[in-house]
Amino acid sequence: MNYNIAIIPGDGIGPEVTAQAKKALDAVADEFGHSFTYTNALMGACAIDETGNPLPEETVDICEKSDAILFGAIGHPKYDNDPSAKVRPEQGLLRLRKSLGLFCNVRPVKAYEQLIDNSPLKREIISGADMSIYRELTGGIYFGDKHLSDDGQVASDGCTYSMEEISRIAHLAFKEAQNRRKKLTLVDKANVLETSRLWRKTVSAIANDYKEVELDFLFVDNAAMQMILNPKQFDVILTENLFGDIISDEASVIGGSIGLLASASVGKENALFEPIHGSFPQATGKGIANPLASILSAAMLLRHLNLNKEADRVEEAVEKSLELGFSTVDINPKNPLSTSKVGDFIADYILNPEDTNRN
Ligand code: IPM
Ligand code: MN
Repeated sequence: MNYNIAIIPGDGIGPEVTAQAKKALDAVADEFGHSFTYTNALMGACAIDETGNPLPEETVDICEKSDAILFGAIGHPKYDNDPSAKVRPEQGLLRLRKSLGLFCNVRPVKAYEQLIDNSPLKREIISGADMSIYRELTGGIYFGDKHLSDDGQVASDGCTYSMEEISRIAHLAFKEAQNRRKKLTLVDKANVLETSRLWRKTVSAIANDYKEVELDFLFVDNAAMQMILNPKQFDVILTENLFGDIISDEASVIGGSIGLLASASVGKENALFEPIHGSFPQATGKGIANPLASILSAAMLLRHLNLNKEADRVEEAVEKSLELGFSTVDINPKNPLSTSKVGDFIADYILNPEDTNRN
């Protein structure tokens, strides 16, 4: 069967890592008899350079017509230190999430046994940690009314949530918890924020439909502490946009490298798959970026297309590369492979999992 995949390489290391994910998809196509038709699209700083617009209309069009979207990374330092820049690369991604209605961002985090000693956290704290963060992606303070006073002295960002926005992701998070260890933690700041109180009320009511799932609540400040004190207590975490952004970067420490964390952003019609890491501009073109987060994002993409054994094979290849130390410098500083060599290894494993020569 043929699938149309939109590829948005983006900025910085985005093109290098998505190229490796594409190698993995090509190997899957060969091995399992599928075909993927790729269409490249522009977004971010590269789109601003070429068109003046961080999200050209054509990109939205290509994405809407696709079965799934694979995205690299976004951002360029020339915008980061210029608070007065009117057009920013990140606007591209935020607008794409909003225009495709990608409200549910799923970020799985687990401690890979092979990498436990890479984490600055103690083995006994992280060994066995395995959670899935459900981050609301198209509401909250990211998309509220923004204001800067005429004299430039006062700024505000509004945070708004409706029950409808909360319930549609809450149902997905409860369903995920049902398929996992049946625990859901809502992370909020209900002791201070009205929106958080609406989250608690809405999620508590929905819990009646999922009686076998245990629901608990944590304030986000406490959750940030618990994340590194005792990450094994978490199964599915449900939270709003900004809190989810922050705690998922924090959670990446458990995995041993942010270069490993993949994510899916899902809406009613479309789905986009991307690493949670940024564009890592200092590493651009050096062949040192870890492609595994992008490759694992491709695995999530396959699962979204219901290609489960194909996704399993990609994940197995990633595990094998970690086990053998066929990894980039963030994971294997003594004897690193380049970005593209890691991609070659993964593709080769997908095609020949039984090949013992590589051991
Ligand atoms: C992420 C990123 C984005 C976000 C940025 C690039 C806008 O940090 O996907 O986590 O804040 O959502
Ligand atoms: Mn982030």
